[in-house]
Amino acid sequence: MSVLTWIEQRTGIVSQTADFLTEDVPGGASYWYAFGSATIFAMILQIVTGIFLTFYYAPSAVSAWESTNYIYHNVPFGSFVISLHFWGATAMIALLFMHMLQVLLWGAYKAPRELSWVVGVLLMVITLVLGLTGYLLPWDMNAYFASQVAINIAASVPIVGNATQQFLSGGPGMGTLTIGRFFGLHVWLMPAALIALVGAHLSIFRHNGSAGPPVDHDLKKLPQGRFWPNQMFMDAVASLAVFAIIVALAIFSPAPLDAKADPTQKFIAYPAWYFLALYGLLRIAGSLPANIIPIANLLATVVIPGGLVTLLVLLPFIDRNPSRQLSRRPWVLGLTAISLVFAIGLSLYSQLAIQQEQAEAGEGGAKAVAAAPAVAGASGASTTGAAASGGSGGAQVAMAGAAGKGMTVYSANCSGCHGAAGAGQAGVFPPLGGSEYVTGDTKRLGHILLYGLNGKIKVKGGDYNGQMPAWKGQLSNTDIANVLTYIRSSWGNKASAYPEAQLAGITK
Ligand code: HEC
Repeated sequence: MSVLTWIEQRTGIVSQTADFLTEDVPGGASYWYAFGSATIFAMILQIVTGIFLTFYYAPSAVSAWESTNYIYHNVPFGSFVISLHFWGATAMIALLFMHMLQVLLWGAYKAPRELSWVVGVLLMVITLVLGLTGYLLPWDMNAYFASQVAINIAASVPIVGNATQQFLSGGPGMGTLTIGRFFGLHVWLMPAALIALVGAHLSIFRHNGSAGPPVDHDLKKLPQGRFWPNQMFMDAVASLAVFAIIVALAIFSPAPLDAKADPTQKFIAYPAWYFLALYGLLRIAGSLPANIIPIANLLATVVIPGGLVTLLVLLPFIDRNPSRQLSRRPWVLGLTAISLVFAIGLSLYSQLAIQQEQAEAGEGGAKAVAAAPAVAGASGASTTGAAASGGSGGAQVAMAGAAGKGMTVYSANCSGCHGAAGAGQAGVFPPLGGSEYVTGDTKRLGHILLYGLNGKIKVKGGDYNGQMPAWKGQLSNTDIANVLTYIRSSWGNKASAYPEAQLAGITK
């Protein structure tokens, strides 16, 4: 009895594998179908390289950067494996987008494949969260400032924002607990969810069979290809090509590691390419007149991205058109084209704006000009080297305009006590959202900022008796006015922009 027969009799695995492989591919095998399997290949590469990295990485504020640096310089092939992981993330997301686009164009999300599509959209969200959470872990300058903006954005979401911010950062500031939360999400929760959903995705796919080309006549009448060996061969070639590209990038363009995170330094962080469009929306929102910034921010951070994901999930149920033929689907194809044009346009806009700010920061020396990303990810960080040498003093913003610059000042100087979401800490640091000190008399507010505050006060019904530092001499009047404009238009506050000229007239 052969070994295979012996195993087959006890597990059935041999015939199951044979069944799995001998599947018809209507219309023949095609490289167009290889994006899905190449995405899975990239995922496996991420898991293998990720496991290697956890052997050395130590998640805490005093060891995250140090252990990453150790991997770079002391672990054999360490820098190469980090770079594979870095470029693998970009590859996985790019392939995933291509796979989704192909399914969208081919109409392969239509009945009976709706659930395949829905699970696929969830996989996209999880993959983006993996990109976001992984970005913080090296704990270098770009990681720190980019993630801080991401946390601030999470904090600005109505109702759940505060709780989400607390969960992500583990406390009022960013530190060891924040690294622990991101690490747990990046290494345990998200990969577990990813693998489970990929399993579901594949088993649903096998149940329905390959969707074939975008035609309306009977697929059975088309010439049939075989999954094994025809499609498997093309899948293998595609994955191999992807691997070769990732290896070449890892060798010739290794992943960057900036200086260790230092919240007191200025830094223009750069978002991953797949978050550039979102960042562009945020910039536009931040450049609008102060009184509509809160609502514009809500649109940019919650309504538009959330609406887009919801629309994607619901697509197979909204698009009831039974035809898969390209010429009979003008609506879906038109909207897809328009969305792509917008996404690419917004990304280019952000890219140019960031480059410009980095150039200004490089020339401006110590003056705190800033920029920053909506969220973080795996690529593009190589452009931050120039910014790191730009000077010192400020931090970063997620939007343009006074409130945007104020957000920078806030993150660097105030969020440690008053919280990223301006919620303070009961009994210790008073809240700024809903505080009448913030939205009320501008002279009193300016005095608090310039000369500090101590003694008993009551804010939103809570008692406080602490020490608010004085900022005169620490921050310029422009920075103070900007931060006040920011806090007066955030977290539900709807007061006017702060008049900078008033500050000069306020004396102790
Ligand atoms: C070291 C912690 C700390 C930092 C940093 C800090 N504050 Fe405060 N802040 C306090 C405390 C404590 C109070 C309450 C003082 C009291 O009880 O009299 C306060 C009070 C305030 C108030 C008035 C009360 C309220 O809730 O409206 C405002 C406005 C304010 N801070 C704004 C800011 C801004 C803007 C920054 C950044 C430039 C900042 N604070 C940085 C600790 C801090």
